[in-house]
Amino acid sequence: MKEFTFQNTTRLHFGKGMIANLGKEAKSFGDNVLLVYGGGSIKKNGIYDEVLSELKGQNIKVTELSGVEPNPRLSTVNKGVQLAKENNIDLLLAVGGGSVIDCTKAIAVGAASDVDVWDVVTKKAKPDKALPLGTVLTLAATGSEMNANSVITNWEKNEKHGWAHPLVYPSFSILDPVYTYSVPADQTAFGIIDMMSHVIETYFHVETNTPVQDQLAESLLRVCVETGPKLMAEPENYEYRETIMYCGTMALNGVLQMGARGDWGTHNLEHAVSAVHDIPHAGGLAVLFPNWLKQTVEKEVGITRMSRLAEQVFNVDKSNKSEREAALEGIDKLQEFWVNLGAPSRLKDYNIGEDSLGTIADKALVNGSYGSFLTQDREVVEKILRDSL
Ligand code: NZQ
Ligand code: ZN
Repeated sequence: MKEFTFQNTTRLHFGKGMIANLGKEAKSFGDNVLLVYGGGSIKKNGIYDEVLSELKGQNIKVTELSGVEPNPRLSTVNKGVQLAKENNIDLLLAVGGGSVIDCTKAIAVGAASDVDVWDVVTKKAKPDKALPLGTVLTLAATGSEMNANSVITNWEKNEKHGWAHPLVYPSFSILDPVYTYSVPADQTAFGIIDMMSHVIETYFHVETNTPVQDQLAESLLRVCVETGPKLMAEPENYEYRETIMYCGTMALNGVLQMGARGDWGTHNLEHAVSAVHDIPHAGGLAVLFPNWLKQTVEKEVGITRMSRLAEQVFNVDKSNKSEREAALEGIDKLQEFWVNLGAPSRLKDYNIGEDSLGTIADKALVNGSYGSFLTQDREVVEKILRDSL
């Protein structure tokens, strides 16, 4: 294992009715809350009313920032920063999926000082202060509810980057699986694909002696493979929603990454695709990941890992085939599983053609080659993108 120091400071309230903790949690930070949410799904499914009733019950003054986009934009972050500064905000409360939470994390650093948020996102500046934030999660996918990551898009520059800082761990997060009943089928599938991708990114690491990490990863993937299709068939089944919600948090709250961080190159490449074409994050992952995995087999570094994943997660029988054949069969099974959930398999499904591959590659390589398990240089990036057309 790689040496590590671990601390996760988010207090998690998980389960049916746990919104009852919101009022007291919020009040402990003060009387002024900036409520941050997306395009209005929380008004249709009743979550907005439950949140407001908790806050009003504690006489908390609520200022609102609505309209956070999927793939949240810097322009919206800056609106939030201004609102927070003007209204003397004590606590930022994100109610939504990963986009709303990530936007709120960026507001948290921008509102606490005069730092330029884009400089933080692009790692030119380090924040030294942040307003506290809490979350009410409505979509199981990113793990943002219990990690210190945030991904922000600068649409004027067509750039999308992830950044992380311990100051933006949510102070508390409320996860009620019932709140995810109304997530539409495509977003439910994308959520499952995103959490599986977080596990796979981690699983392809270069450390040795990691039996706990590797078997935990395989368990999480098996659970997604078992539960995903059942949930797609029964979106209001509490136990399936509960399992997937817990899985999403466990995939990227840092526990799985202790001692072996993983590759994360496919996420970098997907962020470049989204920066140019504004597609759903996990739709992009579903297309790119199988082709990244094929590159790890072609370059031979990934044969052993992938054939093990194939056997452990997709029950590929290795007795009658080579490790390479088992690995390739596993990749096909993974893609088939994602397509059956409803995911795309080609960039063309998003009307992305050959003409934009060069731009996407430039964006992905803006800081040079990347990926700790498989180095993605220009040649590899272009090959993955071409194979994904
Ligand atoms: O805007 P609203 O009305 O909230 O609707 C959203 C949005 O249209 C809808 N939705 C959410 N909860 C719902 C619901 N609709 C009905 N009922 C509910 N209960 O779902 C749509 C997608 O929401 P979004 O927040 O964009 O999805 P997700 O959670 O997948 O977040 C994606 C963003 O997170 C980033 C991605 O790059 C992307 O920008 N990521 C963040 C990470 C992190 N912070 O750790 C890691 C990830 O790898 C990822 O990169
Ligand atoms: Zn992701």
